[in-house]
Amino acid sequence: MTTDGTPDPDQIAVLQSLAVELARGAAELVRTQRAAGVQVWTKSTVTDLVTATDRASERWLVERIVAARPEDAILGEEGAERPGSSGVRWVLDPIDGTVNFVLGLPQYAVSVAAELDGVVVAGAVCNPQTGDLYEAGLGGGAFVERPSEQRTRLTGPRSVPLGQAVVGTGFSYDASRRRRQIAVVAQLLPQIADIRRMGSASLDLCQVAAGRLDAYFEAGLSPWDYAAGALIAAEAGCVITGLRGREVSGALAAAAGADLAPDLLALLERLDADSV
Ligand code: IPD
Ligand code: CA
Repeated sequence: MTTDGTPDPDQIAVLQSLAVELARGAAELVRTQRAAGVQVWTKSTVTDLVTATDRASERWLVERIVAARPEDAILGEEGAERPGSSGVRWVLDPIDGTVNFVLGLPQYAVSVAAELDGVVVAGAVCNPQTGDLYEAGLGGGAFVERPSEQRTRLTGPRSVPLGQAVVGTGFSYDASRRRRQIAVVAQLLPQIADIRRMGSASLDLCQVAAGRLDAYFEAGLSPWDYAAGALIAAEAGCVITGLRGREVSGALAAAAGADLAPDLLALLERLDADSV
């Protein structure tokens, strides 16, 4: 922290470059293990999957963080939970989009975020199959690096009215919640252009940042699903928020360009998309 209480840009840069190194390294592990086969178990429901590679990727990330920064705290989807004393906490999704990973659908990612005193200040999301790497540091903008392309700054989606917006979303592993979620989508769909359900919340948020989706919303996410992607979308100039003036949370995470956001958020509020 600087003396005026704002995060120190040099510290953010250090965390951002480690986040990128970690996301790339774990993505390489995931890519190599996928080629060797998939070993899969179920978690909260029969549709909520975890693989040996989710666990190996998280183990690899935790080992690297502990070696490089032993004072930092860690929270990971597959059970990593480590207290720290530095004020930094790493929030990890070792594979976001595990169902796609199992199917071999190349839409999954390793997501790595660093919080400083509870605020996400750096994030990186890497798709092991495409090699696309999205990254951001608080106040420093968002960037993508795709194989054989130059690193480019992300500036968010095009400006379209609600009726022409293509909106990403996602559904819970719990069937009764899915029933309520699809009731919201049933009312939303006639009022927008179309829906996309691609299966990886972190990448969905990066797609909004990259202008490949006009907006995205989902209820019921966990911090590891959205921590890095939300920072990347925010740094690309998007509105990232919950509904009714609340911050992004497990209740609802929404991302849209500044022009579209007021109409989309008002509609999601009318549909009670945050109480499914
Ligand atoms: C899931 C994906 C999916 C979203 C789910 C998440 P996981 O994460 O991000 O797109 O709809 O809500 O749980 O389980 O593959 O890490
Ligand atoms: Ca996951």
